[in-house]
Amino acid sequence: MCDNLRSMKPAVLVTKRIFPEAIAYLREHAEVDYEENDDGMNAAELARRIRGKRGVVSQLMDKFTAEVLASLDGIRVIANVAVGYDNIDVPAATRSGILVTHTPDVLTDTTADFAFTLLLAAARRLVEGHRFVHSGEWTKWRVDLLVGQDIHHRTLGIFGMGRIGQAVARRAKGFAMRVIYHDARRAPEALERELGLELVSAERLLRESDFVSLHVPLTAETRHLIGARELRMMKPTAILVNTSRGPVVDEPALAAALEQRVIAGAGIDVFENEPRVDPGLLRAENAVLAPHIASASVDTRRKMSMMAAENAVAGMEGRRPPNLLNPELWERISAGR
Ligand code: DGY
Repeated sequence: MCDNLRSMKPAVLVTKRIFPEAIAYLREHAEVDYEENDDGMNAAELARRIRGKRGVVSQLMDKFTAEVLASLDGIRVIANVAVGYDNIDVPAATRSGILVTHTPDVLTDTTADFAFTLLLAAARRLVEGHRFVHSGEWTKWRVDLLVGQDIHHRTLGIFGMGRIGQAVARRAKGFAMRVIYHDARRAPEALERELGLELVSAERLLRESDFVSLHVPLTAETRHLIGARELRMMKPTAILVNTSRGPVVDEPALAAALEQRVIAGAGIDVFENEPRVDPGLLRAENAVLAPHIASASVDTRRKMSMMAAENAVAGMEGRRPPNLLNPELWERISAGR
């Protein structure tokens, strides 16, 4: 391609490593400034590298606060490689005329599979068993060796009956579980009937569930949705699963509850200050911990990377990005054309 044609391409910043096919796609459509490592950038570096760009492909650790967004000049689109977007102040982006996109749907089943993996592993004490075998402590069969909790025919309580919550409920059906849920909005009647769902108060969910799984976005309302008080409402045999966002759970309160056996166990994929983990939680033998990998299958992470790239290119080229979080801005932009 000759130089002046190349220079007509918009410029995009990719803040961290993503799957190579997404970079190849971006390069077909844009000049790509690619930070090809897993460290990401601090706020100052991000601000410097963003100058002169029309789009950004961002990840969870890139914080786009109202202040950062107001300082951006010429950026048309921020394409987050995640379904969650609590790292971006979307109303502020809308005020600044910046389209924001995310990557829904492609990770729904993968994340639900992993929520169930954590649930099963914590209930049946898989990680403790793994350690026990590896350490050579297993010398004889014992009738009560590492006895855990049954999953089948038990009650699963789901906070947040959105896409991932529903996918978890479908899996629970295969285990003949009773599923209750709490959400600000009632699920469609047909879905409630199909999956045998019952909408209950948060308190009833906590008191009646053998397993509590969190599938809410992180907002001011859901921050510390589960704290010491809520943990005390749960059964002493109950297990908490979190694949949503770390700050939805008060982490030190959870660590204390696990230590004091207020609840039986936890399966946790997300933490309040990632990648830092509360030392109490690290000590808890009854906690199964994972490094924010619920959506981390090869296929899904590849699809998420591609989806973000496509969203970014659409936004930079003046087309409506497929997975837009602020459609009202698009309406405004289209009306002004
Ligand atoms: C998401 O998509 O929000 C996950 O937490 C990262 O895969």
